[in-house]
Formats: sequence, C-alpha cells, structure tokens
Amino acid sequence: MSNSYKIAVLPGDGIGPEVTAESVKVLNVIAQAFQYKFEFEYAKMGAEAIFETGNPLPEETLTVCKNADAVLFGAIGDPYFDNNPDAKVRPEQGLLKLRKELGLFANIRPIKTYSSITKKSPLKKEIVDGTDIQIYRELISGIYFGEKFTDENGEFAYDICKYNKDEIVQIAHLAFQDAQKRRKKLTLIDKANVLDTSRLWRKVVQDIAKDYPDVTLEFLFVDNAAMQMILNPKQFDVILTENMFGDIISDEASVIGGSIGLLPSASIGNDNALFEPIHGSYPQAKGKGIANPIASILSAAMLLDYLKLDVAANKLREAVEHAIDHRYVTEDLNKEQNYSTSEVGDFIVDYIKFSENSYYNFENVKLGKSTIV
Ligand code: IPM
Ligand code: MN
Repeated sequence: MSNSYKIAVLPGDGIGPEVTAESVKVLNVIAQAFQYKFEFEYAKMGAEAIFETGNPLPEETLTVCKNADAVLFGAIGDPYFDNNPDAKVRPEQGLLKLRKELGLFANIRPIKTYSSITKKSPLKKEIVDGTDIQIYRELISGIYFGEKFTDENGEFAYDICKYNKDEIVQIAHLAFQDAQKRRKKLTLIDKANVLDTSRLWRKVVQDIAKDYPDVTLEFLFVDNAAMQMILNPKQFDVILTENMFGDIISDEASVIGGSIGLLPSASIGNDNALFEPIHGSYPQAKGKGIANPIASILSAAMLLDYLKLDVAANKLREAVEHAIDHRYVTEDLNKEQNYSTSEVGDFIVDYIKFSENSYYNFENVKLGKSTIV
C-alpha cells in the first residue's frame, strides 16, 4: 500500500487560512513521525476567489480537489457579501458547488464534550458532561439544491425542497453502521407532521432499519429536537437528518461543549471527501492570531481516519486532548493565558514529536514556559 497522499488545501476566507495553516503544520509532523508523505496542493475558493477571478469555485480548484485523496478546507464567507443580499455571486456558492461536484452526500459532525471545559458551556455542566453525538446531515439535496426563483420586482420568491429515495438510502446506511459501533441508537429528525419529504424520509429509514435490528430507531420533529438538544443532549447518539435541519441543529449542538472552535466535520462521498471545521469564517478575528485552531486540527484527524491512518489519527486526538486538559488553548477557552492560534498548533506538534519519551514537562506548559525541557 502506498503511504503517499495528495491533499488539496483550500484555506478560504476569514480565519480559514490561519487555522488551516496549523492543520498543515500538524499533518507535516504526523508525516514525519509515521513515515507518510503528504503532498499539499493549495487552491482558492470563496470570497478570495471571487475577488481574484470572479468565480467562487474556479475550474482549477475543482480539478485540484478531484485529483486529491482528500480535501482540507478552512472557512467561507465575507461581510462584504453578507451585507449585500443583491450580490449575484456569493462565496457560499463555491462550497455548495464543490459539495455537489464531489458528490459529498454525508456531512458528519461529531459533537463531543471535554469535561475540563464544559463549565464554559451556556448550559449547566451536569446537563452537558458526557454528551457525545454524531450528526449525519444530508449535504447535496433538499431545499439547498431545489429549484429557486425570485420574480423581477423582487416581491415573490420560492425554494423547492426535494428528495428521492436513493439520496436517503445512501446516507441512512452510513448512519446506521455508525450507530452499530456506538450506543446503538439512531434518531431521525424531520417534520413529518407537515412535510411530504419528511414522510418519505421516515418511510425509507424505517425500511432500512430492518437491516440493523440491533439499532433502536427513534423519530423526533425538528422543533421538538431543537428543544431536546438543550434540555437533555445526552439522550442523543446518532442523529440522521436532511440538509437544512442538519445545518440548524448542528449549529445549536455545536455550542453545547463550550466552544464552537473545537468541532470538526467530514463530508463524505463515494469517491471524494472534504474536511472542515464547523465554525465559520469569523471575519472579526481575521489576522489577529486568536482563532481556535482545534476544530481544523480535529478535522485533519478525521481526514487521517478517512485515509485509514488510524494510529496517526488517534495520536493527533490524544495531542489535542492534552492541549485542552492543560489549558493550552486560545482565548475563547482560556482568557488568562490566551495562547495564540500558532502557539496552540506548536503545542500539539511538540506533543506528537515528544510524547513517546519523557522530555515533556507539563508543569512548564501550565506556566506558559517552554514546552520542552
Ligand atoms: C455549513 C455552512 C454552509 C451551509 C454555508 C456556508 C453554505 O453554514 O457548512 O453549515 O449552510 O451548509
Ligand atoms: Mn451551517
């Protein structure tokens, strides 16, 4: 088996480039430590690509992604476009087109909590501690990709939500298989009391459930699910849902643990995969070195999982957990020491390099001194 991999890197907008740089740094040290070869190929997408080429997803970027073993993506979005609803070309269109072109039908968002920081959660610590949810969001269909229309005088518009059976089947199998490896519970979130598409989801998913008798299938209407997520997030194991409900529920779930800056995601297709933090481009923080790189670094760990480099992926997660446990984190989680984006990346790199021997002095780390003695 070859141990050489091509990784397309799309830093994107806002804090995307800063956090992605840390992931590349970490992947480079993983390559050294485990004797892999990662070949990084950079390409543009989003606002930056529009300003330079007029196109949020230049053809060249698409080709780089299609030829890569995996794509590492930063963030997308820019206030210039957010404040201008009439803009015809928008950064987000680049990401949506890329998802569609690469056939990334399943977006997987793990919502994991770290007990050392759940006191930062807006919810009570006892409600939050132990939450561990895996969200499967359908990513290339539904209302995002149905027909859209705005009339000439801008007074009438619609977006159509469509699904067919096959689109539901392919993601449902992934979600059930994951549930089998976890706590064996799958919750389908929909609005089947109102929407035909939701009734189709229920029917198809009920049918598939017969292949997974060890998994308990439950249904929740999305409005109730939004409430349950706050009341008792621990009740969820695997969540399966359509595109827009998944977008909304996953943002809600992402703050439970105390910082959205910790959460990675994987978007998987039959031939391609893309990895990106859940957080957005956070333009206010751009260039300040304060953005939390952990969501991006954990996305790199999911990328390693996808390449079946499990030992390396686990080492990387262990390094991240050490950073969190020793409060070697950015200001969103540690106001007193407020380590910079690249200092957190360096800590994780050092841990990977030196954790096999005893040269590491965590007391110094806590004091903010040199990490190596
Ligand atoms: C996400 C984002 C995107 C989405 C935007 C940027 C198009 O919010 O990945 O969740 O809505 O899918
Ligand atoms: Mn979103």
